[in-house]
Amino acid sequence: MLLFREPSFSRTVSRILRVDHAGEYGAIRIYGAQILVARRLHPAVVPFLVETVAHERRHAATFRELMWPRGTRPCRAMPLWGVVGTLLGLFTGLLGVNAIMICTEAVERTVHAHLNKQLAFLGTRDPVLSEAIRAVRDEEVGHHDHAHAARTSFGLAAHALDAFVAGTTWLLIWCSTYGALTRMRHAV
Ligand SMILES: [Fe+2]
Ligand SMILES: [Fe+2]
Repeated sequence: MLLFREPSFSRTVSRILRVDHAGEYGAIRIYGAQILVARRLHPAVVPFLVETVAHERRHAATFRELMWPRGTRPCRAMPLWGVVGTLLGLFTGLLGVNAIMICTEAVERTVHAHLNKQLAFLGTRDPVLSEAIRAVRDEEVGHHDHAHAARTSFGLAAHALDAFVAGTTWLLIWCSTYGALTRMRHAV
């Protein structure tokens, strides 16, 4: 049985869950690829990456569990999230620890802003989903803050990498929600 009958609201909730689940999958791929490279080139950063990817796996499981009672199927763009995530992870891993931290900061900042828009849209209409998103968001903020504190590069190249990663993440989110991100902003 579906939890929600109101079609446009339930459609947006489905898109929220789909993109959040796909985003966690992308994050798992980013951190997984970075771990692969960092084990060989930057072992000092591996504990942070291993802990973070464990959080992302838990987040993905949380969203997956919330999907079926709401009649939601996984995002069709999941393979794209996987490929882009892996490439971003390998690319930044090879660039070094600063690039890993810049990537983490940019991804988590973009995701955090997206989750806040979802929470504003949901209001009190789906407390279980809101609570799950809030708990995930708080952990994403922790990832962001750790990365921000750990990076030591703030030059032009760092800004360019930050903008590239944030832009890529935003584009994937927009594509996976078919523009629902924009409509959500109008609805609140
Ligand atoms: Fe996450
Ligand atoms: Fe995260």
